[in-house]
Amino acid sequence: MSGRFITLEGGEGVGKSTQLKALAQVLVSRGLDVVTTREPGGSTGAEAIRALLLTGEKDRWNARAEALLFAAARADHIEKTIRPALAVGKWVLCDRFLDSSRAYQSAGSGLADADILALHRFGSEGLLPDRTLVLRLPEAEAEARTAARDGNAPDRFGARAGDFHRKVAAAFVDYAADEPNRFRLIDALGSTDEVTGRLVSALSDMLP
Ligand code: TMP
Repeated sequence: MSGRFITLEGGEGVGKSTQLKALAQVLVSRGLDVVTTREPGGSTGAEAIRALLLTGEKDRWNARAEALLFAAARADHIEKTIRPALAVGKWVLCDRFLDSSRAYQSAGSGLADADILALHRFGSEGLLPDRTLVLRLPEAEAEARTAARDGNAPDRFGARAGDFHRKVAAAFVDYAADEPNRFRLIDALGSTDEVTGRLVSALSDMLP
């Protein structure tokens, strides 16, 4: 028995967390056994690494140390949470995954995409999602939603400049063009229900 591994990706403020919960509800209502999880985090060790990554001074880590910490958190998360769930036939819905490391640490912070992929091969034997859903919003809308959510207390990544976030958003679109079978780009404008409907449609070929 083997489950499905689905990731939600996108820049800040596009509604991933809300949509992850809503999508999980729909899948459960269709009789699937669903596990929701997130990165960085999703296992005890990876949640401890999350605190190191998201709090503290803006320059607490350089880009390479940061990439290694994300890869280490992912290795633990996959071993402890994701693989065991897939092995018993569960659907795993994950808020961010490898493509966030590619977008933030490579496209945003200047590391080579090949190095991020090499870390993933070493740390996690290259496990890839069955499908990656990228939520997209116009920049001004994403900024307004992020400001409403985080106010004056963004995390270390949210605090970065607009140019960084533009590169991140563009990178996800590039990855989708390179791997059209794995990726779907999803318009995140509209009501929660409308967007959830688009996500479900983007999984229709996999649903029982
Ligand atoms: P969140 O705000 O979606 O919880 O994600 C935390 C931050 O971590 C977000 O700004 C994106 C960033 N991030 C990376 O830079 N690289 C990664 O590999 C992951 C998973 C997240």
